[in-house]
This record gives sequence, structure tokens and C-alpha cells, in this order.
Amino acid sequence: MTTARLVSHGRSHAWTLAVGGLILAACGGSSESPTSPSPTPSPVTATLSSIQNEIFTPRCASCHGATAPGGLDLRAANAFANLVNSPSTQTTLMRVAPGDPEASYLVHKLDGRSSIVGSRMPQGGPFLSTTEINAVRAWVTAGAPNN
Ligand code: HEC
Repeated sequence: MTTARLVSHGRSHAWTLAVGGLILAACGGSSESPTSPSPTPSPVTATLSSIQNEIFTPRCASCHGATAPGGLDLRAANAFANLVNSPSTQTTLMRVAPGDPEASYLVHKLDGRSSIVGSRMPQGGPFLSTTEINAVRAWVTAGAPNN
């Protein structure tokens, strides 16, 4: 074994350690960066798809399905057509009048206003939270798009 070989080997070993140290430092840095927040329950937003998934399907469609009280089938494929510009069977109001939650009987039924015919919805409760009703109102105010 020659001296030159020893020096050469020593340098390459040092280089390996240096590179390894940089990689370790980089990994250490990334582990300190903020981790993504743990998932929280997604609140309903003012789109029909969100209202469908968060409210109509889990809270209404058990009754408003194939049997459809008042002809109001609220399953995903049928909710839009049965609500938007669709006349209520209980009043002269539309179930949903695009842009006008005050003229939308759906909102009256969810609020449980004294003017409604029959029960507040969901019938027998538990009723929707203010946040949930506000999402429905905001969707109606936005023109009740099929989004
Ligand atoms: C336990 C069964 C049941 C559940 C759950 C339920 N409904 Fe109803 N719904 C009825 C019945 C029965 C009627 C007709 C009698 C009445 O209005 O009280 C009705 C009527 C309605 C009407 C009036 C229809 C019209 O033509 O005027 C609307 C609007 C309505 N429901 C919306 C909803 C919504 C939205 C939900 C979910 C948030 C819901 N309902 C949940 C049973 C239910």
C-alpha cells in the first residue's frame, strides 16, 4: 500500500462524510417544517354538491327518497329539478326561487317559520344548524346554480 493510496482513500472518505452530513442536515430541516393540519370535519359550503353531500343525502333523503313526500325527491340525481323553480305543494311559493331566499319555501321549512304548512324540516329534528341553513340561503342567493 503506498502513501498516495492512503491519502486518496482518506479524502474520498472525508467527502462521503461531508455529503452524508449535508443530507442529514437537509432531512433535519424538512422535519422541522410545519406539518399539515390534522383534517377537521368539512363544514358545508354554499354549493349544491356540498349541500347535497352534507345535508340532503344524510339528513333528508331517508324520507325524501323514492316515496318523496310532496313529490320532493331530494336524492342527488333529482334534488335540483325538484327544488329550483319547482312549485311547493303546500304554498304558492317556489321551493327555491333563484336569488331570493325569502321567497324560497325550502328556507321557510328549514327555519321552521310560523307561516309554514306542516312540520319544520327535517321532520322530527334534529334541525339544521345556523351555519347549515346559512349555506343553503347563500346558495339560493347566488342564483341556486347546479354546482
Ligand atoms: C322523517 C321524514 C322527513 C325528513 C327526515 C325530512 N322530511 Fe321534508 N317532509 C316530510 C313530510 C312527511 C313532508 C310533508 C308534510 C310536511 O310538510 O310536514 C315534508 C315536506 C317537505 C317540504 C315541503 C314540500 C312542498 O312541496 O312544499 C320541504 C321543502 C321539505 N320537506 C324539505 C326537507 C328537507 C330539506 C329535509 C332535510 C333537511 C327534510 N325535508 C327532511 C318528511 C321528512
